[in-house]
Amino acid sequence: MDESHGLTVALIKLGGSVLTNKSRLRSFSETEARRLALEMKEFISRSRYHRLVLVHGGGSFGHIRAKKYNLSAGLREESQLHGFAQVRNDMRDLNSKIVSILIESGIPAISFPPETFLRVHGGRVIKSEAGLLEKCVGAGLVPVSFGDAVIDTRQSFSILSGDAVMLSMSSMVHPSISVFCTDVDGVFDSNPRLSANSRLIPRLRESDRVSTDATGTDDVTGGMGGKLKFLFEIAHNSGRTVVLNGLVPLRLRETLAGRDATSTEVVPTRRRPGKKASRRSGYI
Ligand SMILES: Nc1ncnc2c1ncn2[C@@H]1O[C@H](COP(=O)(O)OP(=O)(O)O)[C@@H](O)[C@H]1O
Ligand SMILES: [Mg+2]
Repeated sequence: MDESHGLTVALIKLGGSVLTNKSRLRSFSETEARRLALEMKEFISRSRYHRLVLVHGGGSFGHIRAKKYNLSAGLREESQLHGFAQVRNDMRDLNSKIVSILIESGIPAISFPPETFLRVHGGRVIKSEAGLLEKCVGAGLVPVSFGDAVIDTRQSFSILSGDAVMLSMSSMVHPSISVFCTDVDGVFDSNPRLSANSRLIPRLRESDRVSTDATGTDDVTGGMGGKLKFLFEIAHNSGRTVVLNGLVPLRLRETLAGRDATSTEVVPTRRRPGKKASRRSGYI
């Protein structure tokens, strides 16, 4: 799915850090969700060839209980089962809240749980099925996937991060732009929540030194450190790959419109000769 289909796809991750208060169990930030929905609506309204594919994180609907019950490790003791069931249910609840707001904002959003198109084994995606996703994006629907507590064919269950779902989806839809909306201005040379001297990296290369020490908040998928691993892979599948602050109004809108906004642009590493790059260029 790319320019040969005449479509311009924006793949957007709405971080759990933007949509929820990560330290308060199941606290949904409805105001932020409504504002971001309108910023995205503007993108699809601009051209009949514009398409959106969305992923959201778990925030306090996912990470707090996933950590408490050690769900990333897979099934080890019976007491985890209740936690797994709760997180799955909470994630569907969060997804439903987001999809409802998108629909109310005029976006034809449909829930698209990761198990609809991915198989997970030992915490990793081992198989994907692009057919349904392509059909639904081609038709003009907006799939809304999410990081989730998933069935795992090796360890009974595991946690699949929204960032990992972004990678799988980027390989299927080859977006013109992939955007990560998070709660800081982009990727810094060190965690901006821990150091006042940290500097935003406007163009991030794999060779850049980035420290990703975590704060006390629970992010079972590794916070910015976990995200970094995926960013360079995603950059190979995307025309542009951008990390920005989804809590600041208009940053997403301006980026989707191709205008400058404070952010980090991920520069893909050049592939070694002989290795086929799947990156395609977008026009955004
Ligand atoms: N070098 C860094 N640059 C930016 N953020 C960082 C860095 N190191 C750690 N972080 C932390 O990563 C957090 C964002 O990651 P995360 O909480 O996983 O967001 P999301 O919910 O969007 O996935 C920030 O709030 C910040 O505290
Ligand atoms: Mg995260």
